[in-house]
Amino acid sequence: MIPAEIIKKKRNGQKLSESEIKFFIHDYMMGNVADYQMSAFLMATYFSGMDKKETLHLTNAMLHSGSVINFENKVSHYVDKHSTGGVGDKTSLIIAPIVAVCGLKVPMISGRGLGHTGGTLDKLESIPGFNVWFDLNSFKTLVNSVGACFIGQTKEICPADKKMYALRDVTATVESIPLICASIMSKKLAEGIDSLVLDVKTGSGAFMKTMEDSIRLARALIEVGKLSGKKMVAVISNMAQPLGYAVGNSLEVEECLDVLSGSGPEDLKNLSIELAAQMLLIGKKTKNIRAAKKLALNKITDGTAMNKFLEIIKYQGGDIARLPKARSQMDFRSSKSGYIQKLDAEKVGIASLTLGAGRLRTEDKIDPSCGILLHKKVGDSVVRGEVLATVYYNNDLKLKSSLELLNLAYVIGSKKVSRPKLVFKVLK
Ligand code: URA
Repeated sequence: MIPAEIIKKKRNGQKLSESEIKFFIHDYMMGNVADYQMSAFLMATYFSGMDKKETLHLTNAMLHSGSVINFENKVSHYVDKHSTGGVGDKTSLIIAPIVAVCGLKVPMISGRGLGHTGGTLDKLESIPGFNVWFDLNSFKTLVNSVGACFIGQTKEICPADKKMYALRDVTATVESIPLICASIMSKKLAEGIDSLVLDVKTGSGAFMKTMEDSIRLARALIEVGKLSGKKMVAVISNMAQPLGYAVGNSLEVEECLDVLSGSGPEDLKNLSIELAAQMLLIGKKTKNIRAAKKLALNKITDGTAMNKFLEIIKYQGGDIARLPKARSQMDFRSSKSGYIQKLDAEKVGIASLTLGAGRLRTEDKIDPSCGILLHKKVGDSVVRGEVLATVYYNNDLKLKSSLELLNLAYVIGSKKVSRPKLVFKVLK
């Protein structure tokens, strides 16, 4: 087969066969297909799309570019949750201990934040000593013994995705449903899970800004998962404003501790309970979603989920008592009275990134201690001079740019607005 012919076929909107897709990915990994050819293939896919079968073949080709974890002697049901990414989205840290303490196993291969979105690995690494780099055997042992383990995408897991994602990032080909779907699902299928619960975000802080695109992505992910023999559920949730109040790594870990101790923001708690309940239901821990939500909530109330989180941190080498704190903080006050009409998640994410809480390029180093603590969200009333948010920072110049962005993120008006819906749909 000739790479340029495969690119031409996709460019012209034709369907690719399984063997053509397999060949292209395999030869890319062998160095026989060059980065410029892969870039052309990605752009052709971006414009021409892929059908269900092609997306599945691409997912499998990427999955088998590396190792696939196999829990040989299964001791329970293995289930993960994947979020398509957002701002203040820290539910994994709350959900994994809840689900693990109920007896299911949670192998989580997590990602880093990129652009305005946060990443589970960055949040966890803000805990001094927390190790996310275990070899696959140790990962399996920890999942089986502790119940949950968080690791990064090791070099054995989907190396094709790693290379392709880096190219997509610099060739404007990230926002393509078949490419996002194959990228996410290849990594999730490599985890050795039985089921997957997806949190597909929609709104300004998400990859998919419209409900229509979010549903299309959710359906594509569900389809590939089911065709691969996995049980799948997708929750479409609101990412028009940040989730919870904390945005920035160590601030977000603190907020997770609040939720696990029975307090914390309602939206974060409710979405965590919804997702944990979907995992418990899919893993047959309860008969219906109501009972699953009750069970998840009980694990917070009785303190066992918190104990499990502390156990996970201990086994992964973290010291929660030494969470870093930024040197300075500054209150951002409202210039008028009224109601918060809008709080743009993407702008808050960029304001936090500007402080050093995120990265623009994968190789950038982040500052784990800085970020933004929101005090007002959509629907809240505010009087002139009241604090809207507190900015935690270590650098005065960065603070200035961050405050400018935060100012654009808040829209305040006289119209009373209701609190936005959190969960729009559950798709199976
Ligand atoms: N997350 C991924 O892992 N891959 C994508 O393409 C987008 C989000």
